[in-house]
Formats: sequence, structure tokens, C-alpha cells
Amino acid sequence: MREFTLDPLPPEFDPAAALRQPRRWLITGSAGFIGSHLLQALLEAGQYVVSLDNFATGYQGNLDAVRASVGESAWARHRFLEADITDLQACHAACAGVDIVLHQAALGSVPRSLEDPLRTHAVNCTGFLNMLVAARDARCARFVFAASSSTYGDHPGLPKVEDRIGNPLSPYAVTKYADELYAAVFTRNYGMQTLGLRYFNVFGPRQDPQGAYAAVIPNWASRIVRGEPCMINGDGQTTRDFCFVSNVVQANLRAALVAADGPRHEIFNVAVGQRTSLLQLHELLVENLRGLLPGLQPVPPLHREFRDGDVRHSLADVSKARRLLGYDPEYDVRSGLRLSMPWYVEQANADVGGLAGKAPR
Ligand SMILES: NC(=O)c1ccc[n+]([C@@H]2O[C@H](COP(=O)([O-])OP(=O)(O)OC[C@H]3O[C@@H](n4cnc5c(N)ncnc54)[C@H](O)[C@@H]3O)[C@@H](O)[C@H]2O)c1
Repeated sequence: MREFTLDPLPPEFDPAAALRQPRRWLITGSAGFIGSHLLQALLEAGQYVVSLDNFATGYQGNLDAVRASVGESAWARHRFLEADITDLQACHAACAGVDIVLHQAALGSVPRSLEDPLRTHAVNCTGFLNMLVAARDARCARFVFAASSSTYGDHPGLPKVEDRIGNPLSPYAVTKYADELYAAVFTRNYGMQTLGLRYFNVFGPRQDPQGAYAAVIPNWASRIVRGEPCMINGDGQTTRDFCFVSNVVQANLRAALVAADGPRHEIFNVAVGQRTSLLQLHELLVENLRGLLPGLQPVPPLHREFRDGDVRHSLADVSKARRLLGYDPEYDVRSGLRLSMPWYVEQANADVGGLAGKAPR
């Protein structure tokens, strides 16, 4: 697909300046963790946003938090649709009049996909295809989507480079790779601009600490605050490239706004380019939480079996996003954790059985 490659961004590219022109955006998965941060950033930048969610794993509380943060006049530039991406008609309605789609809605979690592969497939593949068809029919100028580092599967190479992938290790990874293939084919056949962002272990405020499929950082933060042991799958030497959510927002805005004519398809790693082991992560969390809760008495972590479908090491080469998008991750794992912890402490203390006191609907 070389003929669709983006030209490198001129160094003077400034997303803030590009955002001065008002556009119409669609964010799917806006009641979720990453989607709600994208919604907040766009409304703060004076943009017009339609957003969609079915509250499968998202929360009304996340939308309420964005509203409280941006204020009523910015919120008036937003229209929310409670809808399911497995419903093609709903996708068509959401895409009408939209310039740029930021497609985030999906069922995350490797274990969830192992337990219910059909449901993960329905949302992540059929729902994704519905969104591509709807964006094509509405002639949306660009389709930026959440891809995943799980696509690297069993490829042993480190750091991970976009065009060297292995075999997927879970149904979730299959769905995310299939999305990339569909996007490439829609560029080739329908002339669309499709840019996929392979996120690596994103974390930050509003990431759900509840439930069996919670990601490691919110899950461990709330366990440490409650004085419970964290469960480490394996020996703790497993590594991840943890990426604070503001870096992900930056990558989305750059991918959405980079100048490009004609059909384009490109995949980018979105991470920091630093690896942290699970044992190091545990120490960092304890250190941060001690700063906030001086009386904290953390208990040592417990080890259990490695988890099916998990990869051993994950570290991104982000040079392609740097070169073509001017992406420059502003936060590393330490600064990101410092900014995230007050929110996790607040959530753990609220202890009312759901994010911001509201269970998913
Ligand atoms: N968080 C990470 O570390 C990470 C890593 C790699 C990729 N991703 C991808 O990023 C995207 C956002 O993830 P997140 O961490 O914010 O998860 P999230 O669960 O917080 O957000 C996903 C949102 O999509 C919504 N959704 C699910 N099924 C839907 C459907 N059928 N119709 C409409 N909405 C639906 C959920 O209700 C939720 O609000 C996902 O595509 C995910 O696969 C996330």
C-alpha cells in the first residue's frame, strides 16, 4: 500500500492552529475512557461534535464529567446519540454531515474476548465495518480509528515496528487486526482516508477500575488504596509501554488534522517508547499513592499463572508517528501516573459500586 503513504508533516504543523477552523466530528465510544477525553479536547477547542455510545462499558458519569469540565456553552456544541454500532442505520445517522470520525467504540479486554468471542467479533468487526460503510456513504473526509498493540501477537521483535506483526494470540487481537485490513481495503477500493492508531496500554483518569476486565493500572490502584494485594500474572517481569491518555488525544488530533489529499491508509504505534515491568509498575503506584495517602499500608503483590492470550513484552517504536504526524508524547509513565492517581484515590474512596457512583447502563 505504499502509494497511499502520507508525506511527512512540515515541522511547523500545529494542531492547535489547525483546530481554529471549526469542523464536525463524530466520536464513537464517547462515554468510555479514551472517547470521553477526545470529546473534552474537541469541545475545549471550539469544535462541533456528535458522539455515540451504547453504555456497554461506558458511563453516563464520564459524559457528565466532560460537561462539568467544558461548561454549558461548549457542551451545546455536542449532540449525543445513545446507539449501538452493530446497528447500521444508527451508524448512518451518526455519520451524516460529519467531516472526521474518531472511532473508539469496541469491546476491549483479551479475557472478555476469550470468554465471549462472538460478542467481541460482533462489536469490533461487524460494528467496525458498519462504521466504515457509514463513513464512506456520508463521504466523511477522514476515518481515524483505535487499533491495538495486540496485533503484534507472537512477533518476538522489540521494539514493535508497524509493518512487522506476528500471529494474533486472542480473539480480541484478531478483531483489531481485521479492522486494519478492512480499513486498508476501503482506502484501496473507495478512496477513503483511514488512519489506524495502535494504542499500547493506555491509562489515565476515567479508566474503569471496576469489574473482571479492568485494566491493570486502575485495578491495582484501587486495590492498593483498599489495602488489598495486587495480583501479578506470572513473575512480574512482563513489560508494557504504558501510555498516558493525553498522548493518545494528541495522536488522534494529529492523525485527524494532518494535511493529505486523496486516498490514504496508514497505521501508527501510539505509546511512549519506554518499557515498565509489572513489578516496577507496582512500586511506582505504591510510591505515588503514599504521597497522597500518608497512612497507606500496602501489602506485597501476589503472583499467579500467566494469563492466556497475553504477550510477554510490549514496547513501541513510535518513530513513524513522530516522523509523519509530528507526534511527541508529552507524558511518560511517571508523570502520567502522578496526574492520574488523585482520580483513582477519589474513585476508590467513593466505593459506591460503580464509576462516579454510576454503574454502566
Ligand atoms: N485502553 C487501552 O489500553 C487500549 C489499548 C488498545 C486499544 N484500545 C482501544 O481503544 C478504544 C477505546 O478503549 P477504552 O479503553 O476507552 O475502552 P472503554 O471500554 O472505556 O470505551 C469503549 C466505549 O465503547 C462503547 N461501546 C462498546 N460497544 C459498543 C457498541 N456496540 N456500540 C456503541 N458503543 C459501544 C462502550 O460503552 C465504551 O464507552 C477501543 O477501541 C479499544 O479497543 C484501548
